[in-house]
Amino acid sequence: MITIGIMGKMDEKWGVIVVVMAICMANMVLVNGDSSTKILMKTVKGKKVCDQGWECKGWSVYCCNQTISDFFQTYQFENLFSKRNSPVAHAVGFWDYHSFITAAALYQPLGFGTTGGKLMQMKEVAAFLGHVGSKTSCGYGVATGGPLAWGLCYNKEMSPSQSYCDDFFKYTYPCSTGAEYYGRGALPIYWNYNYGATGEALKVDLLNHPEYIEQNATLAFQAAIWKWMTPVKKSQPSAHDVFVGNWKPTKNDTLAKRLPGFGATMNILYGDQVCGQGDIDSMNNIISHFQYYLDLMGVGREEAGTHEELSCAEQVAFNPSSSTSASS
Ligand SMILES: *[C@@H]1O[C@H](CO)[C@@H](O)[C@H](O)[C@H]1NC(C)=O
Ligand SMILES: *[C@@H]1O[C@H](CO)[C@@H](O)[C@H](O)[C@H]1NC(C)=O
Ligand SMILES: *[C@@H]1O[C@H](CO)[C@@H](O)[C@H](O)[C@H]1NC(C)=O
Repeated sequence: MITIGIMGKMDEKWGVIVVVMAICMANMVLVNGDSSTKILMKTVKGKKVCDQGWECKGWSVYCCNQTISDFFQTYQFENLFSKRNSPVAHAVGFWDYHSFITAAALYQPLGFGTTGGKLMQMKEVAAFLGHVGSKTSCGYGVATGGPLAWGLCYNKEMSPSQSYCDDFFKYTYPCSTGAEYYGRGALPIYWNYNYGATGEALKVDLLNHPEYIEQNATLAFQAAIWKWMTPVKKSQPSAHDVFVGNWKPTKNDTLAKRLPGFGATMNILYGDQVCGQGDIDSMNNIISHFQYYLDLMGVGREEAGTHEELSCAEQVAFNPSSSTSASS
C-alpha cells in the first residue's frame, strides 16, 4: 500500500502529491474542490477511497465526502454556544471550535459527520452537539438569550454528592486513591468503570487521571465522540448508527418501538433514564437543543424527523437499568 505523510504545510503536501501521482497515475486522482480542500483519491477493490489530510486521514470511503469544517465553521460553533464564555458560565475559556474539530478529525474517517451526504452530515453534527449542549447547559427558563443558548456552560459537575467509586469493579477498574469520578466532559462521564473503559479506548489513563477530561477540551470532545460512535454492547448499534441509518430494526426492536432517528440516540446514550417514560422534560430538553441547533445551522428543524423518530417517549430501552423495569 502507499503510505505517505500528508501532515504538514501546504507546500510540503503539494510536493508529496506530485511524487505520489508520478508513481501511481493509474489509480490516483487529485480532485480540486474549493481551494482549501485537496482530496486524494484511489480505488481499492473497486471502491473509491480518499484522504483529506489531517481532518480525514487514512483512505476511507467517508473521506471522499465533505469534511465537517467544510459545512460547520467557527462562527456556527460560536452561534450554537453563544453564552459559554459569559461571566456567569462555569467553564469560561475552556471549550472552543478548534478542540471540537481536532477531536472530530479522529472519527471522520469512520463516518462521524461524513456519512450520507451534506444534509445528513449536518444533521448528525447537530444531533451530537444537541446532546452535548443539553448535558452541559446552565440555561434555565428566564436566562438571557433563552434557555437553549447556554450549552457548554459546564465542563464538570459542580457539587458532586459522592465520588462515584463502584467497588464492584475493584478488580477491573479499581478506584485510584484520591481520584474523584464525578461527571466531567462534553457527554459527562461518571463512575470509575466508565472512566476506565473510556481511557482504555482512548489509550489515556483516565482511571488514574479522570481530571484530564476537565483540563483538555480536545480530550473531552474525543471521549464524547467515541461514546457516540461506540455501541454499548457489541451486538447493538451505536448512536451514530441509529442516526445515520446504518441500523435496521429487528422484529424485537419494532415491538419495543425502537426505530432509527434521534429518539434512538437518546435510548442508546441514556436508556430508561430518559426513554420509555412518556413526554418528560429531560427528554424534551435534549430534543429542543437538537432542533435549535438545526435552525442555527441553517438546516431547519423541519429536517429533524417525524415526531415518532425524534422522541423516545414510548421506546423500551436497549439496555434496561434493571430487569424489572423492562417488563413494567
Ligand atoms: C457521500 O455523500 C454522498 C452524497 O453527497 C452520499 O450518497 C454517500 O453515501 C456519501 N458517502 C458515504 C460513505 O456515506
Ligand atoms: C489533549 O488531548 C489530546 C487528545 O487526546 C492530545 O492529543 C493532547 O496532547 C492533549 N493536550 C495536552 C496539553 O495534554
Ligand atoms: C426477541 O425477543 C425474544 C423475547 O424477549 C427473545 O427470546 C429473543 O432472543 C429476541 N430475539 C433477538 C434477535 O434479540
